[in-house]
Amino acid sequence: MSIKNILKTINKAIKKMRGSFAFGILVEGDDHLYATRLTSPLIIAEGNNEYYIASDVPAILKYTNKYILLDDYEIAKISANNLTVFKDLKEVKKEVLTFVGDMEAGMKNGYDHFMLKEIHEQDKVIKNTIGYYFDGTIESIIKNLPDLTKYNKIDIVACGSAYHTGLVGKSLIEKYANIPVTCEVASEYRYKRSFYDDKTLVILVSQSGETADTLAALRKAKEDNIDTLAIVNVVGSSIAREAKYVLYIKAGCEIAVATTKAYTAQISIFSLIALYLSYTNKLLNESELNEIINEINELPNIINKTLQNKKYIEIANKIYKRRDIFFIGRGIDYALSMEGSLKLKEISYINSVAYAAGELKHGTISLIENGTPVIAISTDNDLREKTISNIKEVKARDAYTLFITNKKIEGDFYDDIIVVDKIHELLQPIITIIPLQLLAYEVAKLNNCDIDKPRNLAKSVTVE
Ligand code: M6R
Repeated sequence: MSIKNILKTINKAIKKMRGSFAFGILVEGDDHLYATRLTSPLIIAEGNNEYYIASDVPAILKYTNKYILLDDYEIAKISANNLTVFKDLKEVKKEVLTFVGDMEAGMKNGYDHFMLKEIHEQDKVIKNTIGYYFDGTIESIIKNLPDLTKYNKIDIVACGSAYHTGLVGKSLIEKYANIPVTCEVASEYRYKRSFYDDKTLVILVSQSGETADTLAALRKAKEDNIDTLAIVNVVGSSIAREAKYVLYIKAGCEIAVATTKAYTAQISIFSLIALYLSYTNKLLNESELNEIINEINELPNIINKTLQNKKYIEIANKIYKRRDIFFIGRGIDYALSMEGSLKLKEISYINSVAYAAGELKHGTISLIENGTPVIAISTDNDLREKTISNIKEVKARDAYTLFITNKKIEGDFYDDIIVVDKIHELLQPIITIIPLQLLAYEVAKLNNCDIDKPRNLAKSVTVE
């Protein structure tokens, strides 16, 4: 087959295919590698007289930081020292991008696992992410974020942990900006009837920027002419490129499948959005604004301090052999419980479910046996008493209870307590999640699990 015919054949074939794909193609008798894609991500990295194809940048950082992004239906023809890209059989020029960031992202730097390393990077990541939009003044946030003042409804759409950050965002924006927010998983949102208009903003959250369902939800909103804003980590990813506005988090490469630093960085963007809207809606007084600004500056130190608390190791040793572990919380603490539970189950394979604490008595409490671990999160002062009474309900059924709180309280309703620093509610979730991430990590380690690459999971979920 001549080169022209190979290209023609690939081009014809991909136009007939349905769904999403990314292919590397070898043809007998031809010494090129061909690559093409539809919806699934594909990058071509340029080394020293060599090229690599990969789905994501972290895979190539050991060799090079130069790459091009292949667009849908483009076909790359690659030899050891040449790369040509075609679209509809015509050559197209591609920009070579340079990954700027931590080239050491591909190394563990003395940590046993990438996940632990990434948990410990959170002070730096939050500093970089917030610092990118905020110079110490509220005016800088208003200048660096898109104009959000016209929206009277927000839909947040995402998957997995990114969806959990959306739940935190919903809680913060509703409480501080007085704007109604829905938060839905993208695989549902993309197929359901949407109630939005030109005053609705659809926010898509994605670490990879390539999650198929989130991308489809974004495209649906765009087709309906609704404004979209993406909160993304990977620069140049599909969701970042296709959204009307993009706010990048500055988490750097996240290698562990279980997200940690991207999760808290996404929350920090929601904190800024809620602060922005609260201020522009005139719902914040001067002294509260100053308190928040001071605490934003203190945040990296508080994160660092929280990371030093090793109490989670002792607790992990008490619970790692259990088959079921429950998380409970109310309000924003329920959103954090969901993330704590997902983190634990995805890397330790222990069945774990998060419940709104007030729901227990409607069924779940029948699962509580002698010693069943129940991890209760309570940072919202207004809801604390209610949560404590729910903890007492499970304690009375002989559960083992761990109380994670920002206010030390004496009492016999818990077996163990982890106290995190109390800071302004807009920032508190960034701190509160840290012991839950560490606990999940430690439990998985004690169970000898493959922490960075849990079974059946992929870092980017580019299929439906
Ligand atoms: O790349 P994304 O943020 O769009 O990924 C979404 C989820 O697949 C992801 O958060 C997943 O739930 C993680 N494994 C959680 O740690």
